[in-house]
Amino acid sequence: MNPIKETMNLRFFFVFFFFYVFLLFPRFQLSEAAKDSSAQQVKLQNRRLGSSVVFPVSGNVYPLGYYYVLLNIGNPPKLFDLDIDTGSDLTWVQCDAPCNGCTKPRAKQYKPNHNTLPCSHLLCSGLDLPQNRPCADPQDQCDYEIGYSDHASSIGALVTDEFPLRLANGSAVHPHLTFGCGYDQQNPGPHPPPPTAGILGLGRGKLSISTQLKSLGATKNVIVHCLSHNGKGFLSIGDELVPSSGVTWTSLATNSPSKNYMTGPAELLFNAKTTGVKGINFVFDSGSSYTYFNAEAYQAILDLIRKDLNGKPLKDTEDQSLPVCWKGKKPLKSLDEVKKYFKTITLRFGNQKNGQLLQVPPESYLIITEKGNVCLGILNGTEVGLDSYNIIGDIFFQGIMVIYDNEQHRIGWISTDCDKIPNEYGGGDVTEEAYPRGFGLITELFSGTDSSKNKNLASDGEL
Ligand SMILES: *[C@@H]1O[C@H](CO)[C@@H](O)[C@H](O)[C@H]1NC(C)=O
Ligand SMILES: *[C@@H]1O[C@H](CO)[C@@H](O)[C@H](O)[C@H]1NC(C)=O
Repeated sequence: MNPIKETMNLRFFFVFFFFYVFLLFPRFQLSEAAKDSSAQQVKLQNRRLGSSVVFPVSGNVYPLGYYYVLLNIGNPPKLFDLDIDTGSDLTWVQCDAPCNGCTKPRAKQYKPNHNTLPCSHLLCSGLDLPQNRPCADPQDQCDYEIGYSDHASSIGALVTDEFPLRLANGSAVHPHLTFGCGYDQQNPGPHPPPPTAGILGLGRGKLSISTQLKSLGATKNVIVHCLSHNGKGFLSIGDELVPSSGVTWTSLATNSPSKNYMTGPAELLFNAKTTGVKGINFVFDSGSSYTYFNAEAYQAILDLIRKDLNGKPLKDTEDQSLPVCWKGKKPLKSLDEVKKYFKTITLRFGNQKNGQLLQVPPESYLIITEKGNVCLGILNGTEVGLDSYNIIGDIFFQGIMVIYDNEQHRIGWISTDCDKIPNEYGGGDVTEEAYPRGFGLITELFSGTDSSKNKNLASDGEL
């Protein structure tokens, strides 16, 4: 590994575009499976929204570089580990179609079963394709290509399948959701791809899993993640875990050119004092392991940290993990040994007087490497071509609950113990009894007045 490798490791930002390629790629057989979803939509429209689905999360910023959930897909259900990514919409899994560039063995790949989505389907246009895309025969499959800013890519076709979820009382529901069956993955960077089975897309667009669950009437379009410093956490879709007070909210940029979760301009503070860096837009992206500041902000923060370390027992050192590192008198084991030498970094959103503060303590912007050095988990975004974007990645998200509220177009955060599941969902540590592997846990759905419909739903598994 070298610094470049680590820097470019993970997709931090959804770029590129999708397009159809009708002649070049293999076809799956079409079926009727996909076409029900608009009917389902109509059917579920009247039901009350009031549920959330919750999944335990595993992963870390270093050495793994990602956080993931286990999710069942299909009937019979098969388990997939998916990288949670609020920076892109499309969920995809490695697909036995057969597959180029899959890292999972065939037995662990998704097997399509006459369940491709026709290109005439509404969700196919959700791919944001260029104008005049060909859909000559409405029954043709909907092909996709997605590229990420670390140059990894996936090509495949959209399919629709069941996502079995467990209700708190033990019953199961089976919403049909659309995702990508990726049969050609490229990873031209020097770093190996993350070993997960695919990506869980939680962006703002139509294809995002949260948007789909919302349009089925299952949950509100709200995503919550809580990533701990200890390799655990939880992910929820729906708004039931959102605390009724204490959350700091800031609005999403209204004129954002992309479907990213971009906030309005923020100011950068160090040790509660202004750095002079203002007006920077941030994208909240759980698909990025580190945080990226533009060259100006990066330089400012680096200067301040270095100045502050003068006279402290930490010396500059080279470490292949990240570009900026320090060593102690002997190899470091934990951030607890050195965090006292670093100050809090604060992002102030909104205006100066009563802006919204995101406070980032040293343990949420530093890592300890395998060699026992302490390294800065903030990287130079300009160097990797991010230009006007700044990205907040997993490292900053540790120890806070982050709420992406698409209902009210805002983002919130609150300091939280992410090792514990909130009480409404069983409380305590994440256990497999409470969360049967890959089924998540969804609180009682549709507690509206029409009980006959409620019954139907769970028993015929038709959500
Ligand atoms: C950040 O990257 C830009 C573009 O490559 C470069 O000009 C600048 O010197 C870098 N900043 C630092 C502090 O390395
Ligand atoms: C669980 O709750 C659902 C929704 O209220 C209901 O339809 C189902 O019958 C319940 N299952 C059991 C085993 O009680």
